[in-house]
Amino acid sequence: MLVLGIETTCDETAAAVVERHDDGRAAILSNMVLSQIAEHAAFGGVVPEIAARAHVEALDLIIAAAMAEAGRDFAALDGVAVAAGPGLIGGVIVGLITAKAIALVHEKPLIAVNHLEAHALTARLTDGTPFPYCLFLASGGHTQIVAVRGVGDYVRLGTTRDDAIGEAFDKTAKLLGLGYPGGQRVEQEAARGDPCRFILPRPMLGRQDADFSFSGLKTALRLEAEKIAPLTDRDVADLCASFQLAVVETVVDRLRRGLKVFRQRFGAPSALVAAGGVAANQAIRDALLNLASQDQVALVVPPPSLCTDNAAMIAWAGAERLAHGLCDALDTSPRARWPLDQVGKPLHTDAGTAGVSPAIACPPAGRAGGRDARGPGEPADSMSPNPVPSVVA
Ligand code: KG4
Ligand code: ZN
Repeated sequence: MLVLGIETTCDETAAAVVERHDDGRAAILSNMVLSQIAEHAAFGGVVPEIAARAHVEALDLIIAAAMAEAGRDFAALDGVAVAAGPGLIGGVIVGLITAKAIALVHEKPLIAVNHLEAHALTARLTDGTPFPYCLFLASGGHTQIVAVRGVGDYVRLGTTRDDAIGEAFDKTAKLLGLGYPGGQRVEQEAARGDPCRFILPRPMLGRQDADFSFSGLKTALRLEAEKIAPLTDRDVADLCASFQLAVVETVVDRLRRGLKVFRQRFGAPSALVAAGGVAANQAIRDALLNLASQDQVALVVPPPSLCTDNAAMIAWAGAERLAHGLCDALDTSPRARWPLDQVGKPLHTDAGTAGVSPAIACPPAGRAGGRDARGPGEPADSMSPNPVPSVVA
């Protein structure tokens, strides 16, 4: 099954072609990512209007490049997958309209993929990880522990009560004058800093639930920085190292709890899986490795280039959905907000069995009867005026 994937939900314009074999193995035939860092750097964060315009300018060329590198033409595709949300709505619209046009012209099924679902399924693209597994989703807009039980079957075990983990990295970077994008810069500075110089809080440590909170940590860091301002290079490095250690220790504690909750509710997970841009952080990857070995669970962390936003994960999620007969009609709406537990599920075969329906040949996009993968009870138009956080309004 050959699927083109398109990603435009934030500040990366990306297209990829992925092949899913019948036995579930995957091959990434091309994976093009054009970052908009230069366009947004002067503003210290992503400017939604600029992002949408940049997607318009670049997307056609990126798709053409992805198809050329894959050495296939549109006629060979089995589907066109696009991130239809959640994300900055202008960019999502650009990607979705483009995908609809390709699907319509070439008479291919359209698969409207939830961006978070794509992060959640990346471990199956890279490692063929079997269900169920315990996912740590750590990105710019989300921090969640999720039981991934099947395609479209996600149970949230923990989430952040305030800032997302990537947002905390980005705000720390901004506060310390490290610019945008923040996560990588904070990690670089932390590598040469003293993590014990500043005593910062470890939010939510030891709590019974599996939730996160990062806004108190961010405030504590700001207060420490204000006490010693003006900051030297050494101060900045030490603040970054102290912040990163606090984050790492919090993540380990929360995941230990999340794994316990997972086992109580669903039995043993096949693996602990990390996904999302923050999973590119080496200190977090090292800590997860330790945790997994202590907890005697396999660890799957995709390579950094597949943790940060990319279109291979969108194509793969599209292929997984298509393999279950899930595709979407051409009137599918873009969605600024789209919780992971509201994505459409494959049909259950019989009562009480979480099995999936046999694959249904989706009709080409634009033809009547394309199955809509909206969750039960979801309104046809669930666009929200709220953009994801951590952007410059
Ligand atoms: O998954 P992603 O690429 O986009 C979203 O869906 O949000 O994640 C972006 C987030 C940003 O907050 C960025 O600062 C963070 O991931 N990030 C990192 C690192 N690389 C990216 N955070 C910490 N360390 C990194 N090396
Ligand atoms: Zn993402």
